[in-house]
Amino acid sequence: MTTVAVATRPLMIAVPKGRILKALGPLLARAGIDTTPLTENDRRLVRTTADGTISFIFLKPDDVPTYVEYGAADLGISGRDTLLEKRHDLYTPVDLGIGRCRLVVAGPEGAVIPDVPRVATKYPRIAADHFARRGIQAEIITVHGSVEIAPLVGLAHLIVDVVETGATLRENKLSVIETVAEVSTLLIANRAAYKLRALEIQPFVARLRAALQPANA
Ligand code: PRP
Repeated sequence: MTTVAVATRPLMIAVPKGRILKALGPLLARAGIDTTPLTENDRRLVRTTADGTISFIFLKPDDVPTYVEYGAADLGISGRDTLLEKRHDLYTPVDLGIGRCRLVVAGPEGAVIPDVPRVATKYPRIAADHFARRGIQAEIITVHGSVEIAPLVGLAHLIVDVVETGATLRENKLSVIETVAEVSTLLIANRAAYKLRALEIQPFVARLRAALQPANA
């Protein structure tokens, strides 16, 4: 009889390309995870640790929850802003405490805002819900970046966007009107994988939580 070895695929972790990746490396390293694949300077979009246990896949931040929800990745790293907007069906076992920022309503300093404002945002659902809760009828205009320009050139009266240092608002003469939500970066997990691959995922989650302890102490 021939025995066929069934290869277990590595734990697939979807990570966002860009600024969160820089903060994620040190956190994973503190958790004892081999972060060499995160620092390799090449164009490969799937990179596996030397021991073959973890593959990182590198995605646009908005796409991370999609890959995890469909099970193409078991785990992922995603901002609460993206999760609030897209409302994927996922577990969020750990708040990683990195990428802290705020989702805010902002507008031109001193401007008079009409009763039915036009609001430019990358987060149309969050913005629509926010103004509906306030009882304000707003016209939501979806844009995909450089949101701060919208009030400057007359596309919109207000914006809903994330603020981290506040520099972009300041330099475009906009100020915060109100906070919509506090944002940080979360570990997300596919619901089926969280159960089926518990033997790998639970220790990974435990190591991450332990790595967060000193920062929280
Ligand atoms: C984000 C966000 C703000 C800016 C906030 O944009 O949309 O524009 O960062 O950061 P700050 O408060 O530290 O200035 P991002 O750099 O992701 O580019 P984008 O405009 O293309 O979305």
